Amino acid sequence: MISNETIERIRDAARIDEVVGEFINLKKRGANLLGLCPFHNERTPSFTVSPAKGFYKCFGCGASGDSVKFVMEHEHYTYPEALRFLAKKYHIEIEESTPSPQYLEEQSQKEVLYTVMSYAAQFFLDNLWNDSKGQAIGLSYFHERGFSDEIIRKFQLGYAQDEWTHFTQSALERGFKVEYLKATGLMSSGEKQVDVLRGRVIFPIHSITGRVIGFGGRTLKADKNIPKYINSPESEIYNKSQALFGLFFARNSIVKENNCFLVEGYTDVISLHQAGIENVVSSSGTSLTTGQINLIKRYTNQVTVLFDGDAAGIKASFRGIDMILEEGMHVQVVLFPDGEDPDSFARKSNKEDLFSFLEKEKKDFIRFKADVLMKDAGNDPIKKGAVIKDMVQSISIVPDGIMRSLYIQQCAQLMQVDEPVLFNELNKVRRQRLKKNLSEAEMLIENDQSPAQTKPSEQIYPIVTHSYDQERELLRLMLNYGHDMLEFHQENDEGEDELITYSVFDFISADLITEEILPDHPVYAIIFEECRRLMPQYTLEQIHQYFIRHVDDEVRTTAIDLISPHYMLSPQWEEKYKIYITKEKDIIYHVILEALHQFKARRLIQIIEKEKSKLNEPVNEEELIQILENIKYLESIKKTILDDLTTVIYPK
Ligand code: CTP
Ligand code: MN
Repeated sequence: MISNETIERIRDAARIDEVVGEFINLKKRGANLLGLCPFHNERTPSFTVSPAKGFYKCFGCGASGDSVKFVMEHEHYTYPEALRFLAKKYHIEIEESTPSPQYLEEQSQKEVLYTVMSYAAQFFLDNLWNDSKGQAIGLSYFHERGFSDEIIRKFQLGYAQDEWTHFTQSALERGFKVEYLKATGLMSSGEKQVDVLRGRVIFPIHSITGRVIGFGGRTLKADKNIPKYINSPESEIYNKSQALFGLFFARNSIVKENNCFLVEGYTDVISLHQAGIENVVSSSGTSLTTGQINLIKRYTNQVTVLFDGDAAGIKASFRGIDMILEEGMHVQVVLFPDGEDPDSFARKSNKEDLFSFLEKEKKDFIRFKADVLMKDAGNDPIKKGAVIKDMVQSISIVPDGIMRSLYIQQCAQLMQVDEPVLFNELNKVRRQRLKKNLSEAEMLIENDQSPAQTKPSEQIYPIVTHSYDQERELLRLMLNYGHDMLEFHQENDEGEDELITYSVFDFISADLITEEILPDHPVYAIIFEECRRLMPQYTLEQIHQYFIRHVDDEVRTTAIDLISPHYMLSPQWEEKYKIYITKEKDIIYHVILEALHQFKARRLIQIIEKEKSKLNEPVNEEELIQILENIKYLESIKKTILDDLTTVIYPK
């Protein structure tokens, strides 16, 4: 039991911004801090931390609470576990008796596994530093590899003696039960109670809070029949798809550098660390999972994949990288010279050479993939066609419409194909996916209607109640580009080609007004009305100033949000990576059409929804036929609009 007094001390010490900041990347936003919510999937930050008030709140999913609650939710800790975690962080002492066998018995299964792992880590570490064989074999192996004492200690590397029961014996004597030693994979699962890791150097794998959850053990024998690495199996505390080797040591640096290097092995991570590159992790033997990608995404939106210089593995890893794109992250790659991996390269070169090599060699993934595949295809038109399809497939999964357009432009240049050809292909791929998603959704709806699980009528169809996101996007375009001019070719009465121009604002507002669809959201409606009044007379700068000083709080904050740079593509990208030659401004026509289509499609879905809901009420046959016809007609228009879209709309 932890005394109330201790609990109070912990609560007082645990500053919300520090506690949350340890897990997610927070940026200052006025008096508050803002970041991506760890409790639901989001791309625009809505997770707010108020240091003054001592709480967090997510405006996306509604999660909220204080420091203790955060640790409980985030780490899936119980209340006492969360308190212990915070007590440790703030060096607050909790009175606790030394672990007796009985105490171990009482603790939760998970906690015991953590204790076993931590005991084992210490055991292997002792072997390495304090045992003569450990020093002669393990430590000198690490030294030979060029690892410094400092880095060996930092990563808590160890050595397992080449004996059958060295560890097992000690652990049993210490009071750990056989079932737990087996569950952690440290004792062999068979009849004989023997060590699994024998004669191997040990790489502990840490959770993001720094607890040891598994080990990788590398053999020191050259025998090809012996597996080079033995890795801990999954257990209640080690979920491989949710862990990354090195992440615990890399977190802060990933946030600071706003980039995460992804390498293949344990030794790559450690060598790069030693060379001063600390924002590096490895998926260590497993293929990359969405869970792992989401772990990285808590800290940064950018991943740089470092490839060994053997060509075979590269194409195989493309699928894994597509998964990173799919999460909306930005991916770059660096290919090492033939026969080198990051570890060997880092050892050979000095720090400056390593940094400048990475800087010089990094390429945007889409470009890299196109290069690799195009080289293979040569001039063969059939192969080239396949490459185009493959590339478009990769691009089609990028969630952000602007990014997709930029990638298409880049690919068109690289592969010397006309942009419209690629856009057509892109639309085709996305349409197919949309159809698939829709039919899956329909199946879900049908299942919902099965008599076994009849739900209230309003849940039969996903109900779309508003189009606020789409309205907001149109306002954003008006407020940022309203006075930019768009040019169109049009045939005049004499059949001649005529150039006409519209401002972005006129183009959008004319479209909305003629189709009689205006913003529904009360605040957006006001902003739109005021824009209609102001646009013809004032410059955009003056209009911005007007909104920034607006008397209505909501209008002011919304407008400020819309003209804030975080909605724009960061100009940093261009400076830093020299890739994004095109800005949103340059493809504004495409962006506007997309936004208009999205808005209209969303409105149509709403109208169809409303029409469908009439079917839940009693109607006569005549009315029924009328409603069904309306729905059919509306569906056909919806299809036309959806066919024009490059982005899938989901009901929200
Ligand atoms: N790996 C594994 N099991 C194996 C081989 C490899 O789990 N039998 C994983 C390990 O995480 C390893 C990574 O894949 O770190 C990369 O493998 P490899 O390049 O062969 O090993 P290195 O770590 O580079 O080891 P070394 O430099 O000592 O050869
Ligand atoms: Mn290696």
